[in-house]
Amino acid sequence: MHTFSDNLLQTLGAARKIAVLTGAGVSAESGVATFRDPNGLWAKFRPEELASMDGFLKNPNMVWEWYEARREVVDSVKPNAGHTTLVEMQQWYEERGGRFTLITQNVDRLHQQAGSRDVIELHGNIIDNYCSRCKKPHEYRYTSTAPSVKEPPRCTYCGGMIRPAVVWFGEMLPPDALEAAQEAAETCDVFFSIGTSAEVYPAAGLPIEAKRAGALFIEVNPNQTAITRFADVSISAPSGEALSALFANMLAKNTIS
Ligand code: OAD
Repeated sequence: MHTFSDNLLQTLGAARKIAVLTGAGVSAESGVATFRDPNGLWAKFRPEELASMDGFLKNPNMVWEWYEARREVVDSVKPNAGHTTLVEMQQWYEERGGRFTLITQNVDRLHQQAGSRDVIELHGNIIDNYCSRCKKPHEYRYTSTAPSVKEPPRCTYCGGMIRPAVVWFGEMLPPDALEAAQEAAETCDVFFSIGTSAEVYPAAGLPIEAKRAGALFIEVNPNQTAITRFADVSISAPSGEALSALFANMLAKNTIS
C-alpha cells in the first residue's frame, strides 16, 4: 500500500494545470516491452538498424517485419490501470475548468484506446504508415486476420517504400506536437514524468523545463532515471498501481464531506 503526504494530495486537488509525460513504462503492465530495461527491446535489437532511415534503407524487409511484429503485440494487448487512471484524471480536472495535457513518447496508441483525448504524440505512432520518399500517407494497416506482409508496401503515387509513422533516430519530432508539449510544460502547476527513462531528448527536457518554470515535478517509475534527482516527489512503483492509488487518495482527500 502506498502512502502519499497530505501536502501532495492537497496540492494535486488544488492544481489547475497538469501536464503529463509518459514513456514505455506506462505500457509495461499491458505486456508491451520497454526499450532500455534489462529485457527491453534495445537489449536485444540495435536501434541504429531498426529505428533509423539508414537502417531501413539497408534492410527494408527486416525493419518492416520488426514493426509488423510489434504491431501484432500492440494489437493483442489492452490499456492498464495507468492508462485508465490518466483518463479519469483528465476528466476530473477538465470538469473543474482545469487543463490536463497528456504528452506521450509511446507509439502504441493505448492512451487513446483507453479514452484519453488530445494526446500529444511526440514520437508518432506505430499504426499509420507513409511513403519514405514522397511522404504521402498510405492506407496499409496491420490486422491480425490478414496474411502477414513481409516487405514494405509500395507508394501508389511514386513507388517509394512505405514505412511506419514513428519518429526514428536522427529525425525531427513533429513541430506542432513539440511546441504544444513545451507550452504545456512551461505553464503547468504540476508536471508528471511517468514510465520514461528520460534518456531521449527533447522529450526528456520537458520535466526540467516545467520545474524551472515553477511546477511541482512528480516522477512515477519503479527505477531511478536520469532525472530522478530533480524530482520534488518520487513515486517508486509501477505506474498502474501507483497512479490508481494516488488518484483514489487524492479524491478521498478532496471530496467535501
Ligand atoms: P525506456 O525503455 O527508455 O524507459 C522505460 C522506463 O519505464 C524505465 O525507466 C523503467 O524503469 C520504467 N518502467 C518499467 N516498468 C514500469 C512500470 N510498470 N511502470 C512505470 N515505469 C516502468 O522507454 P522510453 O523512456 O519511453 O523512441 O524511451 C524513450 C524513447 O526511446 C521511445 O519513445 C523510443 C525509444 O527509442 C521511439 O520509438 C522513437
